[in-house]
Amino acid sequence: MKTKTSNKNKINTSILIGSGKGGVGKSMVSANVALGLASRGLKVGLLDADIYGPSQSHFFNLPERTGATEKGSIIPHEKHGIKILSMGSIVSKDKPLIWRGPVVHRALEQLTKDVEWGEIDILIADIPPGTGDPLISLTNILKPSGSVLVTTPQNTSINDALRSKSAFDKLNCEIIGIVTNMSGYFDKSQDKILPLFPNAINSFASKNNLKIIGEIPFDPLIAQTCESGSPYLSDPKNLQNDIWQKVITNILEFAEKKITENKNKNRIGNLEIID
Ligand SMILES: Nc1ncnc2c1ncn2[C@@H]1O[C@H](COP(=O)(O)OP(=O)(O)OP(=O)(O)O)[C@@H](O)[C@H]1O
Ligand SMILES: [Mg+2]
Repeated sequence: MKTKTSNKNKINTSILIGSGKGGVGKSMVSANVALGLASRGLKVGLLDADIYGPSQSHFFNLPERTGATEKGSIIPHEKHGIKILSMGSIVSKDKPLIWRGPVVHRALEQLTKDVEWGEIDILIADIPPGTGDPLISLTNILKPSGSVLVTTPQNTSINDALRSKSAFDKLNCEIIGIVTNMSGYFDKSQDKILPLFPNAINSFASKNNLKIIGEIPFDPLIAQTCESGSPYLSDPKNLQNDIWQKVITNILEFAEKKITENKNKNRIGNLEIID
């Protein structure tokens, strides 16, 4: 595909954040992982690849429209030091997208390649639920170095996470680990975190040889910050949170080697997306 971008685009590595199940917190985790990695000094891009139900435009309170260069390539928004592109800033909120697979593929290709990303260390892709066309297209286009599985801890959600795991395996996309979201809630009267759902995550992780890289509790502040335009980790105070630091450190350790390797490679052509 011919790109319209300037020749400065270079995405050194990319990571998919997904899960088979809808509503388990993929977008919330993607937003905060992007912010957390930026706080550690990485140049970060966040691609809201959920073309049917974009969330990042809402989470970051992005303007309705993105800008474009003279050549017609998209200029991503910049918020809290990260570059963000969301379908929510491209199509009207009230316009349903009824697209077949090839159109989805072309749209994702455009959202990835016809964008003025500049040189970034890591692109975090928030992917839609399920294991269909968008996942296949994105792995094809980005050739991500890894993925993170987000799930809530009960079997209803884990069954879908297992499907995602199999899909990532088939697509040769290494799984960095599992983030268990809504792993519990803080009970003030007992001054401790209590379970929200029956917890089946440990046996799922050990059976499938997967690492649990973080357990995020249900936290009204997380929900509130998703609504306020400034996600949880955009507040430096919340960056002190050990639970989130563990998630960020695990992803950073995985990504750092890839980033260094790719930074030293020569640029070829207009755009390089390196795994
Ligand atoms: N740990 C949490 N504590 C409180 N609220 C949360 C937490 N995780 C997610 N939420 C809230 O739950 C809602 C759903 O989360 P999110 O949009 O990230 O899920 P998703 O998996 O991306 O959904 P979809 O499949 O529709 O893309 C959001 O409004 C978010 O603010
Ligand atoms: Mg989402």
